[in-house]
Amino acid sequence: MGRLLTVTGLTTEFRTERGIVSAVKNVSYHLDEGEILGLVGESGCGKSVSQLSLMQLIPTPPGKIVAGEAVFMGADLLKYEKNSKEMSQIRGKNISMIFQEPMTSLNPSMTIAKQMSEMVLMHEKVTKKEAIERSADMLSQVGIPDAAKRLEDYPYQLSGGMRQRVMVGIAMICNPKMIIADEATTALDATIQAQLLELLYEIVGRYHTALVMVTHNLGIVARYANRINVMYAGHIVETGTVKEIWANPLHPYTEGLIHCVPKLGERLLPIKGMPPSLIGRPPTCPFLSRCQYRQKSCFEENVADLTYVDGGTHATACNVRLKEAGQ
Ligand SMILES: Nc1ncnc2c1ncn2[C@@H]1O[C@H](COP(=O)(O)OP(=O)(O)OP(=O)(O)O)[C@@H](O)[C@H]1O
Ligand SMILES: [Mg+2]
Repeated sequence: MGRLLTVTGLTTEFRTERGIVSAVKNVSYHLDEGEILGLVGESGCGKSVSQLSLMQLIPTPPGKIVAGEAVFMGADLLKYEKNSKEMSQIRGKNISMIFQEPMTSLNPSMTIAKQMSEMVLMHEKVTKKEAIERSADMLSQVGIPDAAKRLEDYPYQLSGGMRQRVMVGIAMICNPKMIIADEATTALDATIQAQLLELLYEIVGRYHTALVMVTHNLGIVARYANRINVMYAGHIVETGTVKEIWANPLHPYTEGLIHCVPKLGERLLPIKGMPPSLIGRPPTCPFLSRCQYRQKSCFEENVADLTYVDGGTHATACNVRLKEAGQ
């Protein structure tokens, strides 16, 4: 598998009246071609901002990417201007985003045919007729029966499940290298969410497209992902394969998340305590106030850089665990 994306030291801030919000702090990770990467963490921990930064889609101002690199297919995306031709070619063509809220992602006043074919016409030199044919083909690939006829529909004429399929079709129609699926803040019906992920999983496998699954629910990503990044208060605090994360979580926050995985149909049980304010945070471990394993030294040391143990695929930012592992 070739390396598709390498993010190094990504740091994004928002300048607000209350102060500077450190939404994403020194975040580094990678993604291989065709790989499924889960990104999990509580609401407000920086999952969406980290992904939107990559796509140069954060509102500026108040947002600003203050440091970092995001090398995608050999070029640093963060060097491009937000409104540059390069960036608008990459969005939708090489990297697609899916927000799991179909009613807000689809344009209610445009037919499905128009929404899909415009995506193709924007990025590829094809005729309108070819673009419509491609759209019909993609609709049947995402499991919509009678696709040619459905193309003429407006979003409101489709069921919720079908709208999700259309969204996936739009994301896939230019055969991107990578899809970012970002869960809506308001949790969708668990069954509908599972259906969408199942569909995505199936189609990215077919086309060998890399997928970043952004969610609160560790249980869900564990089912589909190859590797998982765990985010807390703007930091990636742990990364590893699904097996490593489940069998041997190296960050107390990850351990908390595992205990919180809801059984089928249940809501997520929150970890005790509140995440810290992202304004004026000290350089110590962000999980300190909630951590049941904290030691005296944790109050004195800066949060560790995400460090791999055993030179492998499993890394943590917990000073205590790193010392235990001899790092
Ligand atoms: N436009 C903005 N202005 C100020 N702060 C912002 C802005 N957008 C995001 N933030 C802050 O950045 C932090 C990270 O937000 P983000 O949306 O990435 O969280 P998230 O992990 O995606 O949460 P959720 O699971 O609820 O979607 C939050 O504290 C949020 O308040
Ligand atoms: Mg989000």
